[in-house]
Amino acid sequence: METVEREERDGIITLRDVNKSYKMGENVLHVLKDISLTVKKGEYLAVLGPSGSGKSTLMNIIGCMDVMDSGAYCLDGVEIEKAKEKELTGIRNQKIGFIFQKYHLIPTYNVLQNIVMPLLMRGMTLKEAREASMDTITMLGLAERMEHKPNELSGGQQQRVAIARALVGQPAILLADEPTGALDQESGKEVLKLFQRLNDMGNTIVMITHDLGVARHAGRVVRIVDGELYENESLPDAAG
Ligand SMILES: Nc1ncnc2c1ncn2[C@@H]1O[C@H](COP(=O)(O)OP(=O)(O)OP(=O)(O)O)[C@@H](O)[C@H]1O
Ligand SMILES: [Mg+2]
Repeated sequence: METVEREERDGIITLRDVNKSYKMGENVLHVLKDISLTVKKGEYLAVLGPSGSGKSTLMNIIGCMDVMDSGAYCLDGVEIEKAKEKELTGIRNQKIGFIFQKYHLIPTYNVLQNIVMPLLMRGMTLKEAREASMDTITMLGLAERMEHKPNELSGGQQQRVAIARALVGQPAILLADEPTGALDQESGKEVLKLFQRLNDMGNTIVMITHDLGVARHAGRVVRIVDGELYENESLPDAAG
């Protein structure tokens, strides 16, 4: 009991015995099975698993985009299973920086408008949001691109915009689902280098991937297989 309490205090993410199933007509598909996981502040964690293993389902739970059937989830001191839908909107905006495989930028907005979105949602004016975002925009090499629309950028550049958008609100965690999945190898490497740099700066990162070569960039790797989570297992060589 004491160990659990200590973990709850240390962890920025603490999942305890989380279950999630989908009802498909008569059948129930048990997707997440008693998942327990603690992620500490400043950690860089990869969740590695094959297609259909439950990675995106887990991301949706961690991202407060879906509700679990049972279990407990504490995110940066907030007991998520007790929060109401209205509070969850604020929690998603304040505590989580989302990065998706296909960027999910707003196509009619330019780079600047996309990046400042989370800050406008918090009630900042465009001027305030722009000022608060400038350091991030410069760090990601996007200062020259602020007026461009997403379709005028390469995939790698679009993902950098998405990463900037995830960062500007200084969230408790960065949550990325296959962030290199849509990119060519070179751009994928750039994104992984950037994640390393962001982690070195103190950002907590949870990255979901089916690719061992990608997962190895993280400081810690857990595996998800058929909805069960495995920790502390040695990873085979990237070649093997
Ligand atoms: N909304 C849903 N309704 C019913 N079944 C679902 C739903 N979402 C996911 N599933 C099922 O749950 C299982 C896990 O899906 P999930 O999307 O979490 O896998 P994944 O590990 O992210 O796979 P991939 O690598 O292909 O993205 C799959 O069998 C999937 O068909
Ligand atoms: Mg998925």
